[in-house]
Amino acid sequence: MRILVTGGAGYIGSHCVRALDQAGHQVVVLDNLVYGHAEIIEQVLGVPLVVGQVGDREVLEAILRGRHPNLIGTAHESKPIEAVLHFAAYAYVGESVSDPAKYYRNNLGDTLCLLEALVASKRPIPIVFSSTCATYGVPQEVPMTEFHPQAPINPYGRSKWMVEHLLKDFSAAYGLPSVIFRYFNAAGADPAGDLGEDHDPETHLIPRVLDVMSGREPYLQIFGDDYPTPDGTCIRDYIHVCDLADAHVLGLERLLRLREREEPIGAPLIYNLGNGTGYSVQQVIETAKSVTGRGLLAHVAKRREGDPAQLVASADKARQELGWRPRYPELSTIIDHAWQWHQRRFQR
Ligand code: UFG
Repeated sequence: MRILVTGGAGYIGSHCVRALDQAGHQVVVLDNLVYGHAEIIEQVLGVPLVVGQVGDREVLEAILRGRHPNLIGTAHESKPIEAVLHFAAYAYVGESVSDPAKYYRNNLGDTLCLLEALVASKRPIPIVFSSTCATYGVPQEVPMTEFHPQAPINPYGRSKWMVEHLLKDFSAAYGLPSVIFRYFNAAGADPAGDLGEDHDPETHLIPRVLDVMSGREPYLQIFGDDYPTPDGTCIRDYIHVCDLADAHVLGLERLLRLREREEPIGAPLIYNLGNGTGYSVQQVIETAKSVTGRGLLAHVAKRREGDPAQLVASADKARQELGWRPRYPELSTIIDHAWQWHQRRFQR
């Protein structure tokens, strides 16, 4: 199947491009390269890349029909796209508070443009959308199921939550088939060592711990040790990025099976993706020490605004309906794979 991956040059998108490729699909990537890395597409994944905005209707139409100049002379020429995996988004919570327009324009406005293009085609083109546990806001209970109330507390979470509403409305009104995945904390890297996390700036815990352990940063700040958790630091559910990628392939396949059976879909299929086990910041640090054999200088700093004490997923629905089984559920494996990548990418 011919698939457009938006944001395919980014962290999660690039791992999904590989998973799709390994499942026998043909992929085209659309990425504005604001945070993505062209060389990952060109030198590692080897699929066609179009540099552009998801909100550019002309570029979108050209890709959807296989007529974009970058597709001429490739296996995609004049062949229509059959499904879309939509990862392209800005994802810095703090920045979304100081510059919400950037988030609503890119994450919401551009996605509306994409959805319009998908329903303008003769038969609506199915879409798999990257959403987030940030759409839930402050947890009322853990583990959190897909039925947990959604009350996002920052513009980033709200932009994703609004797209979820668009998908529900487009599904009901225009029959647009969709899957929504709500990720918990994506981490790790492809064990092959050639794909991984490389954000600038980097805000995520595991790569920041590894930055300190490898000497790229002098020390780690632990954002708060007075939370109501056993060791006082925040608890998160870390999920291996390759396991996220596997779920996308399974979600897409389920959506297509339902459509082929002409079963009325009517509403997006919605799944949490996490391991269902929470680890505190302290536990992440301790695990990283034993995986890498390195020490780490850490200071307790004040709480980071908007950080809930605990986020842990119930992903039973994805397990039951998609048959999804995380291959790398252990935190030590997730950190080990991240470390392999980190050493290869950043060691000078
Ligand atoms: N943390 C530190 N020091 C750091 C970095 C992080 O103590 O240098 C802590 C954070 O305070 C938090 C935990 O480590 O308690 C995890 O932080 P991350 O930034 O790695 O991840 P978040 O849980 O904040 O973010 C994730 C996703 C976001 C999403 C958010 C929802 O990456 O996209 O969950 O809350 F919006």
